[in-house]
Amino acid sequence: MTTISTMTMTMTSTTTKAPLDFPTYLATCHTRVQQALTTFFNQHVAKGTAPRLADAMRYATLSGGKRLRPALVYATGHACGAPAAVLDTPACAVELIHSYSLIHDDLPAMDNDDLRRGQASCHRAFDEATAILAGDALQSFAFEILTAPHTQLTPAQQLAMTHTLAKASGAQGMVAGQANDLAATTQKIELNTLEHIHQQKTGALIAASVRCGALACATITEAQLTQLEQYAQAIGLAFQIQDDVLDVVSNSATLGKPQGSDAEQHKTTYVDLLGLAAAQHQAQQLCQQAIDALSGFDERADRLRHLAQLVSTREK
Ligand code: IPE
Ligand code: IPE
Ligand code: MG
Ligand code: MG
Ligand code: MG
Repeated sequence: MTTISTMTMTMTSTTTKAPLDFPTYLATCHTRVQQALTTFFNQHVAKGTAPRLADAMRYATLSGGKRLRPALVYATGHACGAPAAVLDTPACAVELIHSYSLIHDDLPAMDNDDLRRGQASCHRAFDEATAILAGDALQSFAFEILTAPHTQLTPAQQLAMTHTLAKASGAQGMVAGQANDLAATTQKIELNTLEHIHQQKTGALIAASVRCGALACATITEAQLTQLEQYAQAIGLAFQIQDDVLDVVSNSATLGKPQGSDAEQHKTTYVDLLGLAAAQHQAQQLCQQAIDALSGFDERADRLRHLAQLVSTREK
């Protein structure tokens, strides 16, 4: 078993050989994806055509967010030897899908939350119809950028990423999870049902982020993809368990979204079914499993190992 304590706490970039600490790495990913998203918006979302729609899309995407999914794309690509330049497009695509999912998740017909990423949720800042349409357009935008001619990704790689993201987003992934989440609201459900909902609504897109990062490497093997899939499944579930935990123990100012939303909406969570301490323990165990799944990878996967550790220890 690889333990966190045996991991190197400073990481060496294979391109520059300069030491890189993890918080700095995360900040670098944040800045990089922010710049890439801004460039894509400037190139593809013309303000003139539907100004209110374009404003809502920018509002929900460009302000706030931890950018964990882009960081997973970059870290996986690094672990597999892909250059950062080929990772911007999939990193942006997963963040666009994620941002769309948050807009729709907050709608009155879903979780009815008024705060997101530290600001009024999209339907509160604009209106419901604009928020629905902004979500729709962000989804299309993700696939538009992923399929646009690319100088460094081959069409086969782009197709594989597109398929991965489409499958993870739709009726076998995130949207299915959201539908099952709504169907389970106010119902009594078992742990295995909740685990499945969490894997679909949150795990699927996290797994797609990891897979897209790996697909950016032309020489990726099936064996590597399998190990990365195991890693991603574990952190995906852990991420949503920690989200359930934070909904109980944190506060709205820290989270940038309403604390206590799950209880208010009568959602069954891991905290309800296991209790707080056991839910936290389960998240930690899953993150350790994720780290163990990377045993076949060298130190270039340390960024992924640190990201796994972050998933269960994060406070927002
Ligand atoms: C929130 O995701 C929705 C879930 C899947 C739990 P994040 O916690 O990654 O939200 P942002 O992107 O940082 O706002
Ligand atoms: C939402 O789960 C997952 C999505 C697909 C957006 P939650 O409803 O728990 O996410 P938060 O807590 O509102 O961010
Ligand atoms: Mg929800
Ligand atoms: Mg919600
Ligand atoms: Mg939540």
